[in-house]
Amino acid sequence: MCGIIGAIHTKGNVASLLRQSLKRLEYRGYDSSGIATAANGILHIKKDKGKIDDIHQRLNFDTLPGNIGIGHTRWATHGSPSKANAHPHTDCLNRLAVVHNGIIENYQELRKNLMENGHQLRSETDTEVIPHLIEDALHQTSRLDQAVAQILPQLEGSYAIVVIEAHRNELVAARQESPLIIGLGNQGVYCASDVPAFLPMTRKTIVLEDDELVLLTAQGALLSRFNQSGDLSHLSLRLPTVVQWTIDMAQKGGYPHFMLKEIHEQPKALQDTLRIRKPDLMGFTEILHNHRHIITFAAGTAFHATLAAKYMFSHNANRLIHNIIASEGPDTVAASPGEDSVVLAVSQSGETIDTIHAVKHLKKQGCTVVAITNTVGSSITRLADQVLYTQAGPEIGVAATKTFATQLATLASLSVYLGTMTGALKKKEQKELLEALNQFPNIIQSVIRNQESMIKVAAQEYVTKSDFFFLGRGISTATAMEGALKIKEIAYVHAEGYPAGESKHGAIALVEPGFPVIFVAPNDSTRRHLEGNVMEMKARGARIVAICSAQDKALINLSDQVIPLPQLPSLSFSPICYVVPLQLLAYYAAILRGHNPDQPRNLAKAVTVL
Ligand code: AGP
Repeated sequence: MCGIIGAIHTKGNVASLLRQSLKRLEYRGYDSSGIATAANGILHIKKDKGKIDDIHQRLNFDTLPGNIGIGHTRWATHGSPSKANAHPHTDCLNRLAVVHNGIIENYQELRKNLMENGHQLRSETDTEVIPHLIEDALHQTSRLDQAVAQILPQLEGSYAIVVIEAHRNELVAARQESPLIIGLGNQGVYCASDVPAFLPMTRKTIVLEDDELVLLTAQGALLSRFNQSGDLSHLSLRLPTVVQWTIDMAQKGGYPHFMLKEIHEQPKALQDTLRIRKPDLMGFTEILHNHRHIITFAAGTAFHATLAAKYMFSHNANRLIHNIIASEGPDTVAASPGEDSVVLAVSQSGETIDTIHAVKHLKKQGCTVVAITNTVGSSITRLADQVLYTQAGPEIGVAATKTFATQLATLASLSVYLGTMTGALKKKEQKELLEALNQFPNIIQSVIRNQESMIKVAAQEYVTKSDFFFLGRGISTATAMEGALKIKEIAYVHAEGYPAGESKHGAIALVEPGFPVIFVAPNDSTRRHLEGNVMEMKARGARIVAICSAQDKALINLSDQVIPLPQLPSLSFSPICYVVPLQLLAYYAAILRGHNPDQPRNLAKAVTVL
């Protein structure tokens, strides 16, 4: 995934504004970045490999002249991270510059044709074909928006693009499958992959839909739809949505890293999410209830949320759901599951291509699709028949934390409503469970307040350890897997999240004296059997770390180290609370190892490649 921005600033040069916007998009990729501006009929470009601040120190982006420009921060797909492959890309005459997020699947073929026709391409990227195609189209029309529309039917794949031309005071942007949002401000107009890019300038946003193109000038936005013949038809501009995020919400708010800020934001994010309107929840639940099979698709952390949902739905609603990792979706469900199946897709970004492809695969076969996402206007929302939004606000750290909590809370609410519909829960039980769920924001607040410094110290003991097990049973398997994923992705430590009962079937062979095994051990129905697994590990000399109730004297006595947690009002939602110490442990492990937890290597916030 990449971050793109285009801006026309009516009060002076645009370069510094673009640079700061790119900083707010850096979570989308940080292999290289670049800015192009247009002034006096000339394109001015600075770009290089590396992070924005480092490039800025070397090249000083802010000296680029002009009030119109585009910028890009890259997560490499086609072509290694290098200056040549950094965006913006230009045509042969350096008149046109393009930034792109997405993948042009047929670029090899387009590239070959362009080169045979005398074009000189200078990078290995898929993107570079775009300015060259527009260069040719400008021989047929003098309008930049028409030239862009003419070439779009040739592009197969996904894209959000922004184009500038040296002599024009306009930006042309278009989208197909990749996000693009327009911002309308008092001192300029903007378009970007995500709202934080232009949040200091404006909160008024319009989400560009697939097959739409926008012409931005200092006067405003002209919206059109493009078709497969390359024609444009004018659309009236939709009313802007005023986003409620403050700039502060999208920035670090005094914390050293976004990840830590986002861990601390969990009580609020949960509270907001638990306010989902009852009619919305009921409508969504009815769809689940009316289908014989519920198939979940999700990736990474979102997959762990769906795994926890399996236990919640089974215990609270007496409904068995099928959890499928999104990338495995189309191959797992090869035969049509039929119209009595509903797909429940869970995705923070709503842009994970694995999830989108799996959903499209089953939608084609007639399945109903419902989605839980944190991102309004994201691709998944356009595929879904019904959407529930988590209210986590922007999550900038690559590691999902508060969005996991809010996905769990949403799934927990659904399990309770579904339980009432299936008759598994009586009205009174439903009420008690919902009341219990509503206590979680405060419980988490107290866990963070009381345990953070202890976990920070505990993390020091494990600085030299290179392997961990995270074990749990039942619903805590999902928590354990999430704990392992967190420490892997940001602290670069090998960790395995496993069902504790399964560990004796193989994984235990790795255990030797001092090997850290972290048990996620709420006092639920699995607790008795878990003790046996603790004993098995202890017998091999493992160092036992228990995350358990402060009242669980037996387990506390067996453990080498304990992170005590409060009694929970309902154990069927335990991951919401038990994951918090694991997030903090991963965060402090990353810091102690000298890594930036917000931008782990090789990862991106939304993974838009298959
Ligand atoms: C989580 O910490 C990861 N960065 C990653 O596994 C993430 O959860 C996954 O890529 C799915 O993203 P989504 O929720 O935006 O679809």
